[in-house]
Amino acid sequence: MSGGSVVVVDHPLVQHKLALLRDRSTSVRDFRALAREITLLLAYEALRDLPLADRTVTTPLAETAAQRLAGKKMAVVGVLRAGLSMVEAILELVPSARVGHIGLYRDPVTHLPVEYYKKLPAEIRDREVLVVDPMLATGGSAVATLDILKAKGVARPRLVCLIAAPEGVGAVHEKHPEVPITLAALDSHLDDHAYIVPGLGDAGDRLYGTK
Ligand code: PRP
Ligand code: URA
Repeated sequence: MSGGSVVVVDHPLVQHKLALLRDRSTSVRDFRALAREITLLLAYEALRDLPLADRTVTTPLAETAAQRLAGKKMAVVGVLRAGLSMVEAILELVPSARVGHIGLYRDPVTHLPVEYYKKLPAEIRDREVLVVDPMLATGGSAVATLDILKAKGVARPRLVCLIAAPEGVGAVHEKHPEVPITLAALDSHLDDHAYIVPGLGDAGDRLYGTK
């Protein structure tokens, strides 16, 4: 497919929750909760190479060697609107992260992303950046988001999605081969409307009950 890195997290908890998330009979309330839980588990994997520094900590019993995060401060960038659900989950793990929003929708005919909003933290280039969007379909939205971040000087953002199609992974790796992608599933293909098959349908509609 490409030389870029893709990690599909095959942990049983992720796969169990993903099966429930895909199910058309899952309620909006449960869908939201599952998206949050899977995001927490994917972020755990996506951030496993964050640098640590040795520290000394004094427990109530003794002084001991310990480690604390030592690298850049973090920013999480959500692609509106479905990415919002994932932003909230990441903030539970990294409460001090700054948050950026990129508003994109897919044109229903061309399936190309149309930008309608952009607000990013100041000096985002100095941060470790995690881009979150549940669906990586054609890859147009992810590539547009990564283009914006690169133009701001972000060197190596990470991308976390719930489900991807091979077409989307290929598009990201063609334009941004250094971006690591973490997923719960890499599905079969896109249908004629550029929806991921088997996928889960429209992530935004299922999260917000808009259809
Ligand atoms: C969905 C999803 C991605 C995009 C993926 O958003 O959240 O942003 O589609 O498709 P792509 O890889 O082909 O670009 P959508 O455009 O449906 O907007 P929404 O989140 O506002 O519902
Ligand atoms: N956006 C979605 O929400 N679902 C898909 O399958 C593709 C794009």
